[in-house]
Amino acid sequence: MTAKIIDGKLFAENLRGAITGHVARLKSEHGITPGLAVVIVGEDPASQVYVSNKAKQTAEVGMNSFKHELPADTSEADLLALVEKLNAHPAVHGILVQLPLPGHIDTTKVIETIDPAKDVDCFTPANVGKVQIGLPGPVSCTPLGCLMLLRDHFAGDLTGKHAVILGRSNLVGKPMAQLLLRDNCTVTVAHSNTQNLADVVRQADIVVAAVGRPEMVRGDWLKPGAVVIDVGINRVPAPEKGEGKTKLVGDVAYAEAAEVASAITPVPGGVGPMTIACLLANTITTASLING
Ligand code: GUN
Repeated sequence: MTAKIIDGKLFAENLRGAITGHVARLKSEHGITPGLAVVIVGEDPASQVYVSNKAKQTAEVGMNSFKHELPADTSEADLLALVEKLNAHPAVHGILVQLPLPGHIDTTKVIETIDPAKDVDCFTPANVGKVQIGLPGPVSCTPLGCLMLLRDHFAGDLTGKHAVILGRSNLVGKPMAQLLLRDNCTVTVAHSNTQNLADVVRQADIVVAAVGRPEMVRGDWLKPGAVVIDVGINRVPAPEKGEGKTKLVGDVAYAEAAEVASAITPVPGGVGPMTIACLLANTITTASLING
């Protein structure tokens, strides 16, 4: 079997097109321009690229984009003061503080200072709880992107599918499990202590890999016909491209998996582009809820 490639880049482009239309309607019919503030502390190059892309795409869909770049030695008190200021700012409907933060800052404290009404990452305890019981509000961006790709692939109906999620992070694994449960999947969350991992994965109709370990999931771990969503983005050496060169790979050994799976997301161009598109979708959600 050669798997269908699930084109997250194209899906995200179409989603951003729909969001652009929605933003235009919010402006013309309700006088609201959704605004997203992104905050980065320090100079981590990967985080800088992510944040620049978020700010750029925010402006491209017609939203107001507010970018705050703070030095690595910013005090926790100063960061909390900025978050409070953004909480109170009427033109800001979404606040994203890029993680990871420098070690001297208490990440939990920062997250808990974000007004849940503007928490477009869905990191605050209030919003995590809302997702769990199915109340309206923002939904974790990467899991939401994965869910959209899966719903599209299965024509909207995931009922009864056995989904195995690899990884139990607050960012991906746990919210992914909640969303798939809401869509009537049987959900298994596997992690670093799971016994006989390959056997567990082999039971899955849907595999969501979010462990951050390059090409860990092998082709022979998969049930023939499984649908594979690869959340991993790992930079690894690529000597075949020349000395010192690198490339991006996922958590799934793509070439092997594509021989067994019925559909698979590539890396790059799969889940990655969906995350930012879903961040923009969440900003529309919060802007609409804030304005009643
Ligand atoms: N760092 C890596 N991914 C994310 C994300 O989705 N949101 C935030 N705030 N930080 C991140």
